[in-house]
Amino acid sequence: MNKTFHITTFGCQMNEHDSEILAGMLTNMGYEEVAERKDATVAIINTCSVRDNADKRFFGTLGQLKRRKEDQPDFIVCVCGCMMQQQPIIDTLKTKYPWVDIIFGTHNIHRFPELLNNVLQEKDKEMEIWADGGEIVEGLPAKRLFKSKALVNIMFGCNNFCTYCIVPYTRGRERSRRPEDIVREIQALAVDGVREVMLLGQNVNSYKGVNAGGDKVDFAGLVWLIAEIDGIDRIRFMTSHPKDMSDDLIDAFARCYKLCKNVHLPVQSGSSNILKRMNRHYDRDSYLLLVDKLRKAVPDITISTDIIVGFPGETEEEFQETLDLVAQVRYDSAFTFLYSVRQGTPAADYEDQIPEDVKHERFNRLVELVNSISAEKNAVYDGRIERVLVEGRSKRNSNAFSGRTDGFKLVNFKGEENMVGNFVDVEITEGKTFSLEGRIR
Ligand code: 5AD
Ligand code: SF4
Repeated sequence: MNKTFHITTFGCQMNEHDSEILAGMLTNMGYEEVAERKDATVAIINTCSVRDNADKRFFGTLGQLKRRKEDQPDFIVCVCGCMMQQQPIIDTLKTKYPWVDIIFGTHNIHRFPELLNNVLQEKDKEMEIWADGGEIVEGLPAKRLFKSKALVNIMFGCNNFCTYCIVPYTRGRERSRRPEDIVREIQALAVDGVREVMLLGQNVNSYKGVNAGGDKVDFAGLVWLIAEIDGIDRIRFMTSHPKDMSDDLIDAFARCYKLCKNVHLPVQSGSSNILKRMNRHYDRDSYLLLVDKLRKAVPDITISTDIIVGFPGETEEEFQETLDLVAQVRYDSAFTFLYSVRQGTPAADYEDQIPEDVKHERFNRLVELVNSISAEKNAVYDGRIERVLVEGRSKRNSNAFSGRTDGFKLVNFKGEENMVGNFVDVEITEGKTFSLEGRIR
């Protein structure tokens, strides 16, 4: 039997990076990645718990694999990720999907090769979920999606317990990697041709590193350490919490030319009352002040956000406050979400849940506003020259290539294969709602 694998990834960039690590471990075991799951002998589904539509898509995808498993018992089905850290999901898998071969969680992906070997040798099932993270495991391989840019975990877990969010329960408490380990990993990536790193964590600006000498290193300090690495031209991070945006980090935005002038600053709501009920530890005014401070320090910084519509108890007036805040901040882009009940979180038990039709109606109004502002902000780029790190061929048009500006705007342009992984100057010819069009200078 040939050794091929396919991974389906749901959710955030942390999950994407976990999938890169799984791909790296499988590659080291002699497996080859295939583009279609039907050609794979090992299929992995890496799941997300953050909203219920991801749950539904997971069970849908899993259901599709049952026939194949019956026809071809050697085909190995593995499931992992945040959903596996929830007992009700495990119960459902055991009763309704007993043909799944391997189940593992978010804290033990490094154990996957051993679990797979056990299944191959003993032809039995494996389930291993760890309740918490324990020691951080260093030195795992990763098969990167892009040649020139890499995802790098700097911390794991979250201590914030926003009342709507399942992440603290599925990813555990905050743990920061040691600064030396992060720097060593990025040095090796630079040698391998990586020009841009995306530092990952649920809340990167509460990073609390301690180096071998026992000195504390905060997130801004880590950024400065990484900026010293030759070959790395761009540093980004995802995601940050407004309450932890330090003056030192704002100063790094202003002075460190390698730190990209772009920040994802999830606001979640424009109403101080809702923010309080969400346990966000900032209010509308302090958020707006922070945006002002960032823009004063770095006038051309691009800002994106996450917004939840229809949190329990949200009144029309409170939703209007969100619309008003969006109009005031004028985000470059925003991810908008319908509030989704997550069992086990405090907000799931709030009694004043908002009816689905009201949520949808508010959501549509918000999206319309967000998109019209994005289009206006992108239109301003017409005629500008932007430095773009070329990522690859555009998915829709084989003639076109795409890449990102320093401010994280997606740019499409006609290019050549040898540009992939390099910086090019692109003259922007049209700003659209979600991307920019341009031509090589
Ligand atoms: N319902 C809707 N959106 C949610 N998010 C997190 N939990 C929920 C939920 N229960 C959103 C937040 C977060 C983003 C990653 O997902 O906006 O910033
Ligand atoms: Fe969830 Fe809040 Fe932690 Fe973000 S900061 S992962 S929204 S609990």
